[in-house]
Amino acid sequence: MCGIVGYVGVRDATPIIINGLKRLEYRGYDSAGVAVINDNQIEVRRDAGKLSQLVDLVSKSPLNGAPGIGHTRWATHGAPSARNAHPHVSNTGKMVVVHNGIVENFLELKDELTSEGVVFNSDTDTETIVHLAENHKAAGISFEEAARRTFKQIEGANVVLLMSTEEPDKIIAARIGNAGGVVLGIGENENYLASDIPAILEHTRKVIFLESRQMAVVTREGICVETLDGEEVKPEIHVISFDAVSAEKGEYRHFMQKEIHEQVRALTDTLAGRVDFKEGRIRLPELKLTPELAKRIQRIYITACGTAAYAGMVGKYLIEKIARIPVEVVIGSEFRYSDPIVDENTVILAISQSGETADTLAAMEEGRRKGGIVWSIVNAIGSQAMRIADGYIVMQTGPEIGVASTKAFTAPLVDQYMLAILLADLRGVIDEKTRRQLVADLRLVPDLAGRVMDTEAEIEKVAHALKDIRGCLYLGRGINMPIAYEGALKLKEISYIHAEGYPAGEMKHGPIALIDEEMPVLCLAPKDPWHEKMISQIQQAKARGGMVIAVATEGDELVKSMADHVLWVPEAPWMLSPVVTVLPLQMLAYHIAAIRGLDVDQPRNLAKSVTVE
Ligand code: G6P
Repeated sequence: MCGIVGYVGVRDATPIIINGLKRLEYRGYDSAGVAVINDNQIEVRRDAGKLSQLVDLVSKSPLNGAPGIGHTRWATHGAPSARNAHPHVSNTGKMVVVHNGIVENFLELKDELTSEGVVFNSDTDTETIVHLAENHKAAGISFEEAARRTFKQIEGANVVLLMSTEEPDKIIAARIGNAGGVVLGIGENENYLASDIPAILEHTRKVIFLESRQMAVVTREGICVETLDGEEVKPEIHVISFDAVSAEKGEYRHFMQKEIHEQVRALTDTLAGRVDFKEGRIRLPELKLTPELAKRIQRIYITACGTAAYAGMVGKYLIEKIARIPVEVVIGSEFRYSDPIVDENTVILAISQSGETADTLAAMEEGRRKGGIVWSIVNAIGSQAMRIADGYIVMQTGPEIGVASTKAFTAPLVDQYMLAILLADLRGVIDEKTRRQLVADLRLVPDLAGRVMDTEAEIEKVAHALKDIRGCLYLGRGINMPIAYEGALKLKEISYIHAEGYPAGEMKHGPIALIDEEMPVLCLAPKDPWHEKMISQIQQAKARGGMVIAVATEGDELVKSMADHVLWVPEAPWMLSPVVTVLPLQMLAYHIAAIRGLDVDQPRNLAKSVTVE
């Protein structure tokens, strides 16, 4: 979803901006553009399509100067085209804007502006911003004041960068609601702005995150942060530890493949510092969970979107089983419309890779409004979901670039397992032996994941056999039921093959009608408490002529004798088995999409971080 980069300094802004936008490509976009101030003139290059088209345009018609702002657009208002691509310039050519979000009152604003004679050159909501700012400026006030008045007029969740030739030394940025982040990077005699850290990490590690309803005036010499009401803010400066190198593809063909393999390391890091194997205890300090708090929790809502929501469904099993607290999983976009029953003893636990997903943030806000305890499990350090929570757990996965989430799925499974043990311990509902056993089992996780990685060549062969299928049913049961959902989501996201995840026991209530020679059935049948039930599911599918692909535990001859293809996983403690069983499904989806020659890392119509409702 829209990426934004800005640069103020003595160097030419364009290459810095284009490089930054490249690092944000993972967010998904359909057009791109850049604007600089050169000799007191605004110059813009923009086009529909990928960044490579913008690079061609800039090489044919170079852009010199600074400051500059750039944008990758994910179309909301108006088709992906050059005229709708950002940046958008005001009618006098003196102001220019890039924007992420949706101006909810744009029709009203556009009507007013049009009646005043303003000419619109695009179908976007964004354009209203630059015209409003110019109208204010025409009244003779400062650029900063004109920007502030504009920001206060626009409704919805929005991030805006503005430049003006009348004060050509600065970029003014605002974060108006929760429309994704704004990171301000602090350099030496130069400063940066971006939607996300990877865009500027090669230049600086010192960053400031703008909060909602804050604006920043960024010049070469410094950054001034204020609220939209004009109160000065002393921003916290964060130093980012992960480096840009971990956002490179390295030896892999795609980021997704790299990230699948990185799970071994990510899972090791997930345990580091949190698991005391000697004492058999868990530490999650950032959650700020005291025994008193743990004891008073009566209900947990897990809320998230997409892959993160499926991770939450596994979490429900873990927390209910281990900590004996009722858990409900509510999709982020539904939470605020379901009138959830929240009081001061209710936890709202949000799971989000980006920490900026608008629906997840809205659910957290609803939980807060109703007086609940708000927690998050997030990957992006400094993201909104981390900052607005009472307590949080950071996924130790590093940046995830592939749109289809992989390592940000397995990490929260382990995080929730640890959370469940900690809750159970603090509530006194677990005996020492069980606790020690559950903690000891964590030690196995990285190695089990590594063993699945070793089977990649076998999985690729199965992918070749399945590359032309038109659909696939994924069935799972118990704690592996959400893995059926996640496996199906992975396949549809990147290979565009229709896939449906189903609780295996429900097959007979509908989906069984679909099974014939044309409809393969993928059955999750590891050695967990539901193994026998899954065997009977496989038999039922085979009896209808379906092709069965099974995920099975190494050495399971019975499954082998029945299934057409087996994706082998090592034996794992059942509560941790989803961490292992999902891995071959990620790889299967990846290889099917790669064989089909598709854009695995940036599948059509999808965005990495969905910052609009
Ligand atoms: C988008 C992405 C998914 C992701 C979901 C939630 O749909 O394409 O991969 O699972 O958003 O994102 P989050 O950043 O909140 O985990």
